[in-house]
Amino acid sequence: MEFDPIEEINKTKKGFAVQQQLYQAAIKEIRTKLEILDEEFQVKYDHNPIHHIESRLKSMDSIVRKLRDRGLEVNIDSIVNNLSDVAGVRVICNYKDDVNSIAKFLLNQDDITFIKKRDYISKPKDNGYRSLHLIIAVPIFLYESTELVRVEVQLRTIAMDFWASLEHKLKYKKENEVSKNLSHRLQRCAINLAAVDEEMQEIYREINLEKP
Ligand code: GTP
Ligand code: MG
Repeated sequence: MEFDPIEEINKTKKGFAVQQQLYQAAIKEIRTKLEILDEEFQVKYDHNPIHHIESRLKSMDSIVRKLRDRGLEVNIDSIVNNLSDVAGVRVICNYKDDVNSIAKFLLNQDDITFIKKRDYISKPKDNGYRSLHLIIAVPIFLYESTELVRVEVQLRTIAMDFWASLEHKLKYKKENEVSKNLSHRLQRCAINLAAVDEEMQEIYREINLEKP
């Protein structure tokens, strides 16, 4: 059989589209799980642990850049085997306790496979970044197979999210050239926000003694 480059390109494009649909499906599954947990808390305890949820599918450009930067091959197997953040879900919680509860209840679910945890809340990054990162896998049921799809879930409070989004924008604008003084001030902001998180949590606890 003759090699047809157009046919090969179309096959590759189709393969990428199929894989993207899987990641999109995984995002939907995780979002639904989180929404259901939040609704259960609302009904049972009159409290919403989740302020809001964001999600994104990593763009093809970023995927290719990340693989190239690491000297890895650019193909579907390489994406699936080497990248954990193609499907990303960010859970912005109201209180610090909510972050841990939601993470625990999500990981407890029978169909969720735990892969990795990075707790930047117990151990913040040097720059002040705080968040709980989970890499998990969720089954996606297709008509003739079941695929386990990896998702990166970042959980943080509103205060942590406020800091992370502004820090990200400042860094992006300055292209990493944030001076020592500015880095230090940003770090102070993170510490001050963490203190506010603690105090808000304490106030919530005192008002709602009987709730989890
Ligand atoms: P990546 O290759 O970027 O995925 O890093 P990693 O595999 O070492 O994972 P890590 O858990 O450190 O970070 C993953 C994601 O967390 C990033 O893509 C950001 O969304 C977020 N993140 C990590 N560190 C910072 C930070 O210092 N500031 C901000 N704003 N976000 C961060
Ligand atoms: Mg990442």
